[in-house]
Amino acid sequence: MPDDNPAERFVASPMRDNWYQSSSFYGSSFALITSVNEEGLTSIGPYQLSFPFEVIKRRSWMVISRPSSNTVANVRRTRKCALNFVEYDREQIETILKFGYPGQPPAEKMAYNTFHLVDSPTPGRSGEGFPQIIADAFQVFECTLDVERIEENPILRDSTSAHLLLNIENILVKEQWKGMIDGSGDRMPRVPLTYGFRGGSTFWFGEPQPAYKLPIPDLGANHEVVHYEANRLDDEIRFTLEASKALSGIPRAFLRQVLEGIVRQARKRSVVEVTPEFLEQLNRERSQAQGG
Ligand SMILES: Cc1cc2nc3c(=O)[nH]c(=O)nc-3n(C[C@H](O)[C@H](O)[C@H](O)COP(=O)(O)O)c2cc1C
Repeated sequence: MPDDNPAERFVASPMRDNWYQSSSFYGSSFALITSVNEEGLTSIGPYQLSFPFEVIKRRSWMVISRPSSNTVANVRRTRKCALNFVEYDREQIETILKFGYPGQPPAEKMAYNTFHLVDSPTPGRSGEGFPQIIADAFQVFECTLDVERIEENPILRDSTSAHLLLNIENILVKEQWKGMIDGSGDRMPRVPLTYGFRGGSTFWFGEPQPAYKLPIPDLGANHEVVHYEANRLDDEIRFTLEASKALSGIPRAFLRQVLEGIVRQARKRSVVEVTPEFLEQLNRERSQAQGG
């Protein structure tokens, strides 16, 4: 890179509030959060600062909002909300942008809403305090605010923004997308992008390109790879790190197959923790069965 090209020089960008969109570039998708107001009306708020927070054992989500939003008031009161994820649609983006304009009471927003709201199909998740969900979404996370853990954590509790720590109770995925989660199909949802509020008068969005897949480079099956792969195969069965280390010699091409075999055996015997001892037991049984 030629260092005499001024365009290639790094320069400091002034640190401002909401720095992710006022001092830098940050592109990501966003969630449409449904929550219920005091009159029992479901409303929709778009939130870009909205990310997976805990991903192993606990399933949680973090939303960062201005503290005076409808969503914050509703979720703090009812503890319930749903994170709705919709595919890119140029016309719907205009509605989403309008939803993002602060200070509109939910009834005002719902008057121009072009999304279709329906009751949740989850038993016990409709009726008082429970938000409706967006029928147009490709997936929905149904959440409860973790008031106790927010109170215990000074960063979350004392922040000048509202940090909503949400426990994800249900992940709902449209039937047509469910089979695509493992990447075996040839489609991904067309996830819309936003780059946020810029320059005082514009809000930036991005049109997604179709997703494509690449094979993971084979750098050998080290125990971290084994551990990650093994622990996402089943809801309950967990491989200890030691068990993953014991399996780290398996060639990458056979790894998934071997791990699935172990999970099948564990399930058959109601074993929820795969340890080196359990692997040895399986090996012993296999060599006995082979007459070895
Ligand atoms: C695409 C998009 C993303 C947004 N992301 C955020 C965000 O992460 N945090 C936030 O406080 N406001 C965000 N806003 C602005 C809020 O949507 C705005 O405060 C709105 O009033 C929230 O609706 P509510 O008051 O009904 O909750 C976003 C707006 C748009 C259009």
